[in-house]
Amino acid sequence: MNINGRHYRTIWLADDGATVEIIDQTKLPHALEIVRLRDVSDAARAIKTMQVRGAPLIGVAAAYGLALALRADASDGAMASAIEMLSAQRPTAVNLRWGLEEVRRAVAPLGPDQRATAAYAMAAGMADADVETCRRMGEHGAALIQAIATRKPKGTPVNILTHCNAGWLACVDIGTATGPIYTAHDAGIPVHVWVDETRPRNQGAALTAFELGAHGVPHTLIADNAGGHLMQHGKVDICIVGTDRTTRSGDVANKIGTYLKALAAHDNGVPFYVALPHSTIDWGLDDGRAIEIEERNAGEVLQMTGRLADGTVAVVEIAPPGTPAANPAFDVTPARLVTGLITERGVAPASAEGLAALYPEHAR
Ligand code: MRU
Repeated sequence: MNINGRHYRTIWLADDGATVEIIDQTKLPHALEIVRLRDVSDAARAIKTMQVRGAPLIGVAAAYGLALALRADASDGAMASAIEMLSAQRPTAVNLRWGLEEVRRAVAPLGPDQRATAAYAMAAGMADADVETCRRMGEHGAALIQAIATRKPKGTPVNILTHCNAGWLACVDIGTATGPIYTAHDAGIPVHVWVDETRPRNQGAALTAFELGAHGVPHTLIADNAGGHLMQHGKVDICIVGTDRTTRSGDVANKIGTYLKALAAHDNGVPFYVALPHSTIDWGLDDGRAIEIEERNAGEVLQMTGRLADGTVAVVEIAPPGTPAANPAFDVTPARLVTGLITERGVAPASAEGLAALYPEHAR
């Protein structure tokens, strides 16, 4: 997507053909900084500290991280340790493990002298495939938005609520939940997005508002607790969110707070859609309650980062010193609250049957 007229992806191979560059998402929206990942530890740190984040992007970042590891040491032992280390950085998004497994399966049969080159090619291919996947999700999801638009008075925008950032910054480009929004907007369908701020890390305020603004999509930032009220008053036509892991039965783990939005949507008859690529489906899990939920640092709840009037970026405390805080980073929305899953293969009911119909190769 474009920032100030220049096209960016979130991750790319640097000009030296060996190191990897990323947009540092911890600095947005206040600064656009590019960071270079020189080795596997840099990649692991970038994933852990959320310089790169969002399920599809950390899958690709992990694949590049493994390529960086194999460049230094392509032995079986080094590969196994790199995979173990990288997959431990964030436990909930299954794309991380998926990306590593894809690379491992492709390079393991090769001799050590061929592995790094093959891993770089795999990572680049995964990045390209992610863009195409998001493009297709965008088309399928935009059809849902178009259908709502035709039922509204001509020219009135379709009001879409989204949570966290499941945009191009969470992927390689385009985004999962934002794909349908960009596609609809670019096709001339009037849209307006309610952007949940998404405490504690404010991915909505910092990232979704940034990217929607850069693309010219009308949007309004809201406090996380405002969504239910807006739905009660008919101000939300559809919710579209992303996911970090979806079970084969359609339960959906996503950023903490998603479940409450799904409950409010259910109570108010607002359709609640989840957009996801195939790499986010955990075919080994039937029940969302078995998904490991990442518990992050309490400091993320106790502090806020923002820009002061003089332009400097500062971290401030928002609770009395010594306040205990808990920080579960994700929650699980049961399939019964999800109207449909928007995938690259089409829109399916959130159920084992719905997913099996779209992905027959995984049907039991
Ligand atoms: O903790 P984050 O910022 O990595 O969480 C991201 C989300 O919850 C997204 O909604 C999810 O990864 C889907 S991204 C297309």
